[in-house]
Amino acid sequence: MFSKDIYSKRRTELIRKVGNGVILLLGNSEAPCNYPSNTYKFRQDSSFLYYTGLNSPDLALIMDAESGKQILFGNDVDIDDIIWMGPQPSIGDFAESCGIEKSEPLSDLEIYVKTVMAQGRRIHFLPPYRNYNKILLNELTSIPVRELNAKASVELIKAVVEMRLVKEECEIAEIEKACEIGYAMHYTIMKMAKVGVKEQTLYGIMEGIAHSQGAMTSFATILSQNGETLHNLSHNQVLTEGRMLVIDAGAENEMNYCSDFTRTLPSSGKFTEQQKDIYRIVSTANNMGQSLSRPGVAYRDVHLNVCRLITQGLINLGIMKGNPDEAVAAGAHALFMPHGLGHNMGLDVHDMENLGEDYVGYDDSYKRSSQFGLSSLRMGKVLSAGNVVTVEPGIYFIPALIDKWRAENINTRFINFEELEKFRGFGGIRLEDDILITHNGCRRLGSKRLPITPEDVEEAMREN
Ligand code: GLY
Ligand code: MN
Repeated sequence: MFSKDIYSKRRTELIRKVGNGVILLLGNSEAPCNYPSNTYKFRQDSSFLYYTGLNSPDLALIMDAESGKQILFGNDVDIDDIIWMGPQPSIGDFAESCGIEKSEPLSDLEIYVKTVMAQGRRIHFLPPYRNYNKILLNELTSIPVRELNAKASVELIKAVVEMRLVKEECEIAEIEKACEIGYAMHYTIMKMAKVGVKEQTLYGIMEGIAHSQGAMTSFATILSQNGETLHNLSHNQVLTEGRMLVIDAGAENEMNYCSDFTRTLPSSGKFTEQQKDIYRIVSTANNMGQSLSRPGVAYRDVHLNVCRLITQGLINLGIMKGNPDEAVAAGAHALFMPHGLGHNMGLDVHDMENLGEDYVGYDDSYKRSSQFGLSSLRMGKVLSAGNVVTVEPGIYFIPALIDKWRAENINTRFINFEELEKFRGFGGIRLEDDILITHNGCRRLGSKRLPITPEDVEEAMREN
């Protein structure tokens, strides 16, 4: 964890921002997999980590936003626990390690919360996303489970988002470490991928690198020759001549900071000319996204500029037609790129998605669009120095979507459906890097950029 001063300062700032009532932050508990004592790998709640650094289950933090009083709730282990788990820090040790003076047993939390509520004071809590914490919050507050999200504190959400969106130097250093692990995961696969290798083998090797160098992967690894399915979680094919492999994967380092990279490889080690044509549009789009990202610029505008470039590229190939500005305004490019250019990243790969994406990526000036494609943009608002975002343009040929648009005459002014038939079965291409917004532009995170030009990718794969 970072030094205790960092967590103390963050909590003081959060208390100042919220300014009234009592803030309740719940840590996560162990989650059973197939029976209660066989649990998934423990993952602490990211906001709890941000304000305490404590990476153990069954902890809760109370911060009185008026008196400033802070209490860490949790249980000391008993001799039975020690026999099975070994000696553990006491709850007092945990509190001391992050600069909290007072600690109490978890069983006292209910009395504390009920007393505060009986006094007519507000309890601020974040929207719960784990069922265990939904039940706990229901028991503590008597708010029905189905109403908990609506009754979560918007003031607290906004305060947490404002703080976590601007990364401190110490956080950037951790994200850089996660990027080094992500680089090793991807580069190793570039060296191993070749016709005849199973996707599952490559997937397992990536998981192994993530676990051996950090905490785990930052999300379920996407590794598939069916790259046109945006979040394809099956890895059951064998690498085949003429196809491409989309690999979208990242790591969490030991402090649970994330990386998220995507590369698209030719399964055989050599792109076809048709693949290169589309690939170059996507790599140019990735570079453009990075060159336009700077403080004061709305990420929605970066996204739209990238979409216009992709549209022009597809017009040049005869797949689209008409005026690129008009095509993008109509959302016609979304047939090929139905997702957004990127998202914030930090302690979560989609940073703070659990707090509500619209609080993270949008504000009063930038509201989420309802147009197909643009509605999937997770980050639309103005960039600020200290933001960490992904840049991940893609072009996909999704047969079911092409057929639907053709049958329903959607955007026929801008799509050349005849030419498009030549790309049925093409798959998809996505290329993703992670950037930090600096005071005068941005910089890529990680000490080395994964090979991205078709030549460099083929070169990296040549010795396979
Ligand atoms: N890289 C996976 C995602 O952004 O959803
Ligand atoms: Mn991503």
